[in-house]
Amino acid sequence: MLNIAHRGFSAQYPENTILSFQKALELGVTWIELDLQTTADDQLVVMHDATVDRTTDGTGPVSEKTLEEVLALDAGIHRDEVFRNQRVPTFDQVLDQLDPAPRIVVELKFFGFDAIPRVLDAIASAGAQSRTVISSFDLPKLPRVKALAPEMPLTALLKAEGRETQELISMTIDLGADTIAPRCSDIDRSLVEQAHHAGLLVRAWGLGRDQGEEMSRMMDCGVDGMTTDRPDILQRLVRERGLT
Ligand code: G3P
Ligand code: CA
Repeated sequence: MLNIAHRGFSAQYPENTILSFQKALELGVTWIELDLQTTADDQLVVMHDATVDRTTDGTGPVSEKTLEEVLALDAGIHRDEVFRNQRVPTFDQVLDQLDPAPRIVVELKFFGFDAIPRVLDAIASAGAQSRTVISSFDLPKLPRVKALAPEMPLTALLKAEGRETQELISMTIDLGADTIAPRCSDIDRSLVEQAHHAGLLVRAWGLGRDQGEEMSRMMDCGVDGMTTDRPDILQRLVRERGLT
């Protein structure tokens, strides 16, 4: 069961910061999830939103700020004063600075395709190809990644929006992805069985700060992993079930 710390241990620490990722690793969790945006000077930074407003003390689109401007922002005090001076990490910092080196689900949030080669170069420069998965809701990005890095595992983040399970599975396969990732509320045992039959892994998203009820339902459905803001709770549930 892949216990993937969503934006790090984000229920307790400021999301997508080195602190949040390191705290997840200190639990013994091996997987983290992060979001990538690009700056005005084409640098990759770890941030969920297209603007810096919600998660920093600044305002405006991250794509209109230089790296220097983004790094000057405080990415901690939006959560609590005790987190003052947390910074927005660069992708390189997350690839290089965490100990132990995590397995990483990278979500491509930025607009357009131009930054995809830079993402792959950063992963290769860090020697992190074997511990990295790329995901996106922007599904046309996935075949672009595949064309440049055929060995890179790909996760299709899907919003079912009324589609039948077999259509979601076909979409995922056609994109060249190995993992189908619907919102947890769209997952049932039948979906998991059909996806597995088609040779796909199943990963759930949308669990947020669920305290264990939905995590348990996901495990009952047979998913292969999930992102969670509470990797501590999922770790306990996994151990209780004797899973690895
Ligand atoms: O794992 C996918 C999940 O991160 C998608 O939602 O909005 O948190 O990026 P979001
Ligand atoms: Ca994400």
